[in-house]
Amino acid sequence: MWIAFLAAASCLPCHEEIVRAYAQTGMGRSISRPTVENPVRQEGSHGSARWVALWNNKQMIHAINDDARSMQWAVGSGREGKSYLWRVGDALFQSPLSWYARRRAWDLSPGYQSDRRLSFLRPVTPECLGCHAGAAAPIAGTVNRYAVDAIPEPGITCARCHGDGSSHAAQPTRANIVNPKRLGQAARDSVCEQCHLSGSARVTNPGKQFSDFRPGQALEDVFSVYVQAVPTSTDRIKVVSHSEQLAISRCSIASGGKLWCATCHDPHREPADSFGQHQAKCLSCHGQTKPHGDACVTCHMPRTDSVDGGHTAYTDHRIRKPGVPKVLLERSLDLRAWRTPAGALRSRGLGLAYAGTGQLEKAYALLKDVPGDAAVNDAMGLIYLRAERAALAVASFTLAVEADPRNSSRRLNLAAAYLAAGNLAKAKAQAQEAMTLEPMLQDAYVLMAEIEPGRAEYWRGLFAKKLR
Ligand code: HEC
Ligand code: HEC
Ligand code: HEC
Ligand code: HEC
Ligand code: HEC
Ligand code: HEC
Ligand code: HEC
Repeated sequence: MWIAFLAAASCLPCHEEIVRAYAQTGMGRSISRPTVENPVRQEGSHGSARWVALWNNKQMIHAINDDARSMQWAVGSGREGKSYLWRVGDALFQSPLSWYARRRAWDLSPGYQSDRRLSFLRPVTPECLGCHAGAAAPIAGTVNRYAVDAIPEPGITCARCHGDGSSHAAQPTRANIVNPKRLGQAARDSVCEQCHLSGSARVTNPGKQFSDFRPGQALEDVFSVYVQAVPTSTDRIKVVSHSEQLAISRCSIASGGKLWCATCHDPHREPADSFGQHQAKCLSCHGQTKPHGDACVTCHMPRTDSVDGGHTAYTDHRIRKPGVPKVLLERSLDLRAWRTPAGALRSRGLGLAYAGTGQLEKAYALLKDVPGDAAVNDAMGLIYLRAERAALAVASFTLAVEADPRNSSRRLNLAAAYLAAGNLAKAKAQAQEAMTLEPMLQDAYVLMAEIEPGRAEYWRGLFAKKLR
């Protein structure tokens, strides 16, 4: 609560009611320091591994077999659940254990069920914190290295929806602050989509990072989101996000986009009396509908079964007539841009989205004629490496590294290509450079063990030592 207060301190003098109410919402409390949860201690097992979550001596401890780690941050307000982050050196990793509010229980974090070996070593990327924190401080070019103060604004700040408010706070007018509802449709929707539309792939424009987005822009000024290509109205495909579901609702389509997230949600307030509130919203457009029931959402927006904490909508945002199938299972491998980016970015974005989802043939067809920037060359390198064209892979990755010499993963890709080409000396040099840029990059040690099979134990041991 204090955290959100600090972030909004400059708005407090004039918008006190909003600042105080916002501090109570899920978004206002999206990341915090761990506190005690119930049960205080719980054990479980997964395959041959045993795990424990416990609150001890004011610390949140998670352990797998005899490897115990103290958690630094809790991601999630706990409305649905919390996932935990721990730190070694300046690297942030995710815990395989999460707390689930509905069941009041500890269990594996989303996405870990299918892992044969539980591990503490999933990196926490800037993208994860970009959606869950007001501001984070990643070190450029690294996978999961952060400044000492890794998450300077743990709660989602006013600025993420209203832009920089410093000149407005000094001299308040409507002209020097963004009010999302006054923006054009694409820019308006982009404010919420920056976090509420994960899609199948998100692709930054050349030279941009996700964190460059500012309210008032369209997402496509900075990055494009690629979603499963689904006909505008379908009952059969798995459409998971709130944004995608709402977009295929009759209400959204037939109102010409008048309906948007903030029609029903006041982002500053907990939905205390949501049924009553939503009913008034429905009636603002459906006043003429023959009355046939109160609490409209119980029939038209029922809660669906959803994967625990897996970033899917629980409440059906398709706003359907009752009786429409609730379980949506088919997946489409084809992707489309949520909003098509400008000219040259079209093939590049879709190609990189296919590369990011492992559909390399489709990626190749789109990327082969695109001018090579660092991301495109990196993807082309990957395509060539998979196709066992090692020399071409080396050439592509080399261009990617030259364009962006401080990017650890691209260097490691180049090392892998040199290994495939049989050039062990260069493979080793690049892998070591990647290690220097990012000492906690586990894959660099794994690759070194492949480059030097005779010293595999040494490289594994070196990484294990760094973990202590
Ligand atoms: C010194 C008092 C003051 C401070 C500090 C202040 N505001 Fe305001 N704000 C106002 C006033 C007055 C208005 C109404 C302006 C008008 O209608 O011309 C306003 C309006 C707004 C609006 C609505 C604009 C619109 O188009 O409807 C938003 C959004 C807003 N403020 C956000 C913020 C945020 C975020 C902060 C903190 C960074 C902040 N304000 C700090 C006084 C302040
Ligand atoms: C910076 C990322 C970000 C932005 C921008 C954002 N959200 Fe959220 N939103 C989140 C996260 C993360 C949560 C989950 C919070 C938690 O841990 O409970 C959330 C939760 C919510 C919830 C669930 C209720 C609650 O308070 O937790 C609603 C409703 C919501 N957001 C609506 C919106 C709307 C409407 C917009 C656009 C005006 C928006 N959000 C913009 C990240 C964001
Ligand atoms: C593209 C933005 C985005 C990314 C990336 C993302 N999240 Fe989320 N996350 C959300 C939003 C929005 C919600 C709330 C609504 C929902 O589930 O869609 C949420 C919900 C959650 C919740 C449940 C919180 C609650 O109590 O409601 C947890 C826990 C969580 N995310 C953890 C993570 C972790 C850990 C990562 C990274 C390793 C991550 N998320 C990556 C946007 C994101
Ligand atoms: C998740 C996005 C989001 C966050 C975070 C957010 N706002 Fe807003 N804010 C909005 C939207 C959307 C509107 C327009 C609501 C409407 O009238 O439909 C709005 C409107 C406003 C207004 C003018 C209308 C009113 O309700 O008086 C003020 C003032 C304001 N916000 C201040 C703040 C302050 C201060 C903070 C931080 C404590 C904040 N907002 C955080 C999305 C957000
Ligand atoms: C911004 C205006 C607007 C709001 C707000 C709105 N709707 Fe709609 N809705 C429409 C329009 C327009 C249609 C299409 C009517 C038509 O086809 O004749 C529609 C259609 C529907 C349908 C028919 C769906 C179908 O598949 O045929 C249902 C059910 C419905 N709305 C329920 C709701 C409920 C419940 C709410 C509140 C949670 C709501 N609407 C809020 C504008 C809105
Ligand atoms: C027609 C009204 C309506 C619109 C428009 C709407 N929502 Fe919701 N939303 C609801 C209802 C009803 C709930 C159930 C909880 C409640 O009563 O507030 C809900 C719940 C949520 C939750 C909590 C998790 C869940 O699935 O229950 C999130 C997050 C959310 N909405 C995000 C969004 C976003 C993002 C948008 C815009 C793309 C949006 N909503 C548009 C009515 C709406
Ligand atoms: C008890 C369940 C229930 C409740 C509560 C309910 N509805 Fe419906 N609604 C239905 C059913 C069933 C249909 C489909 C009727 C049909 O197939 O012709 C329907 C159809 C609709 C339609 C589309 C058909 C038309 O008449 O235009 C709209 C719009 C709608 N409802 C709006 C609302 C609104 C607004 C509320 C809240 C004031 C509401 N409903 C409450 C069950 C419900």
